[in-house]
Amino acid sequence: MRLLLPILCSVFLLGGWMSAQSAPARFTGNQARAGRTAYNDSCATCHTAALVGGLDAPPLAGADFQGFWGGRPARELLAYVKAAMPPAGRKPDDTSLESIVAYILERNGMSASTVPFDDDDQGVIQPSGR
Ligand code: HEC
Repeated sequence: MRLLLPILCSVFLLGGWMSAQSAPARFTGNQARAGRTAYNDSCATCHTAALVGGLDAPPLAGADFQGFWGGRPARELLAYVKAAMPPAGRKPDDTSLESIVAYILERNGMSASTVPFDDDDQGVIQPSGR
C-alpha cells in the first residue's frame, strides 16, 4: 500500500497531463473568416489560395502539412509564422497572424469553437480523420 498510492497518483497526474497536451487548439469562426481575407492578402501569392503551395512555398493544408504539423501545438505554428512569414514585405499585425493560423487550422479540417486562438492556446493541431 505504501508504494501503490504514489504510483496510482502519478498515473492519474500523467493521464491528466497527457489529455491536456492533446486537446485540440481552439479558434472562432470569426477568426477563421478574418484569417481567410488576411491570408489571401499576405500569403496566397506564394502558398496559393487553395493552400496547396507552389514553386518554393510548401502546402499549408493536406497530408504533407499535417504529417509535419499534426500533433504539434498550434502556438508553435503561430510562433513560426510570426518569426518567418511572409519572408519579405509588409508583415500583418499579430491579431491578423492569429486569424491566419485559425484559417489554416480550419482548412485542415479542425472545427471552430467559442474560444479565440492566441499564443496562450495550449492545444495541438489535430487534423480531421486522423
Ligand atoms: C514570398 C513568398 C511567401 C509568402 C508571401 C509567404 N510564404 Fe510562407 N513560406 C514560403 C517559403 C519559401 C517557405 C519555406 C521556407 C523554408 O523552408 O525555410 C514557407 C514556409 C511556410 C511555412 C512552413 C510550412 C512547413 O510545413 O514547413 C508556413 C506555416 C508558412 N510559410 C506560412 C505562411 C503564412 C501564414 C504567410 C502569410 C502571412 C506566408 N507563409 C507568406 C514563402 C512564402
